[in-house]
Amino acid sequence: MDHFLYRDGALHAEDIAIAEIAQAVGTPFYCYSTATLERHFSVLDQSLADAGLEDRLICYSVKANSNIAVIATLAKLGAGADIVSQGEMVRALKAGIEPSKIVFSGVGKTADEMHAALEAGILQFNVESLSEIDMLAEVAKGMGKRAQVALRVNPDIDAGTHEKISTGKAENKFGIAWEDAEAGFAHVQTLEGVEARGIDIHIGSQITDTEPFRLAFEKVAGLLARLREKGHVIDRLDLGGGLGVPYARDNEPPLDPTVYANLIADILGDKGCTIMLEPGRLIAANAGVLVTSVIRAKQGRAKNFMIVDAAMTELMRPTLYGAYHDIKPVKEMEADALVWDVVGPVCESGDFLGQDRSLPVPDEGDLLAVFAAGAYGAVLGSSYNTRPAAPEVLVSGHRFAVVRARPDYEAMLERESLPDWV
Ligand code: LLP
Repeated sequence: MDHFLYRDGALHAEDIAIAEIAQAVGTPFYCYSTATLERHFSVLDQSLADAGLEDRLICYSVKANSNIAVIATLAKLGAGADIVSQGEMVRALKAGIEPSKIVFSGVGKTADEMHAALEAGILQFNVESLSEIDMLAEVAKGMGKRAQVALRVNPDIDAGTHEKISTGKAENKFGIAWEDAEAGFAHVQTLEGVEARGIDIHIGSQITDTEPFRLAFEKVAGLLARLREKGHVIDRLDLGGGLGVPYARDNEPPLDPTVYANLIADILGDKGCTIMLEPGRLIAANAGVLVTSVIRAKQGRAKNFMIVDAAMTELMRPTLYGAYHDIKPVKEMEADALVWDVVGPVCESGDFLGQDRSLPVPDEGDLLAVFAAGAYGAVLGSSYNTRPAAPEVLVSGHRFAVVRARPDYEAMLERESLPDWV
């Protein structure tokens, strides 16, 4: 459930009309709802509590939406953070996430990033290869520290999701091969600078079925038993993120958090481990819309194009993954609909937000909302065609604040310079 609803024919974000925000900040812009972010976090957390998982830590996956106001909203609810770069760590810390709740994931952490994270005192590194373990051990030892690690193992499970967001199959670059997992833990024991605390998995994103999770959790349970038999002390299980969300507004959520929580409790709840999760999309996707206005309509011979002022530079998901996002007029209309491709001004045929959508013939300046854009929306933005990044607005009840301003052209060019030979 989200807090983007029509009232008297006008789309609202919580208690504010979207049109009012558009008037104030201009389009395109991202609009996030505090109440929706809070609700998504709380529903997941409560489901885990109800399933009896007392010892738990939800580390919001910052990559999904890394605006510091969004992270801070979740920090206030007790969330930790899953980060994949030093930049994300800087954001998480600035947003008030406690270092003791930060886990550092990713296949390509550099020695400098490891150093900075150890200095900050983060909870855990999710390590993905033996060479990474060696590097981390060396960096930590040099600082007189011992890094706590979880080994990200690749359970070789097909999460049944888009090929670009599947991560848990043997051919994906992520994690230590399942067959090498035990050797990996044995290797950690030989090093002074690292201490193995947990098993970590993340099998993919936008997973809409419980079966891949079940298979993965069962494999983790088996590995945990084998490791404990060999004397390894494992007290954390990081089960990653990946929970899918509905991208069409009339659809039910594809995965019920209660079912997911019970699955974890049934398979892994009695192992004496802290259960850690790294959800991103589940928290943020339906907590954001991208608001755009119509530049002009172009009724062609083969297709009708609705040309709007948002583009693939604001929302890359449709062209990158063939992703579907609902698009609706901000002002509810009864008018007859035509079939349109909703496209942006960027000079690429792949620049579209939606194809073959039934929408009324618009007037210039009409506002449209692109739904479920709160995760992997603004963060994947680019300034291609020298387009300024869309501002981000956070709503809470009757209030809204611009939490990232639109840069002017001077700001966009300020890091460029002319060499003296030009
Ligand atoms: N943990 C790790 C290690 C991850 O790699 C990811 C996502 C997450 C957690 C969070 O997954 P979530 O709960 O959001 O599914 N740009 C793509 C999604 C890429 C996901 C990358 N990793 C998209 O727009 O669909």
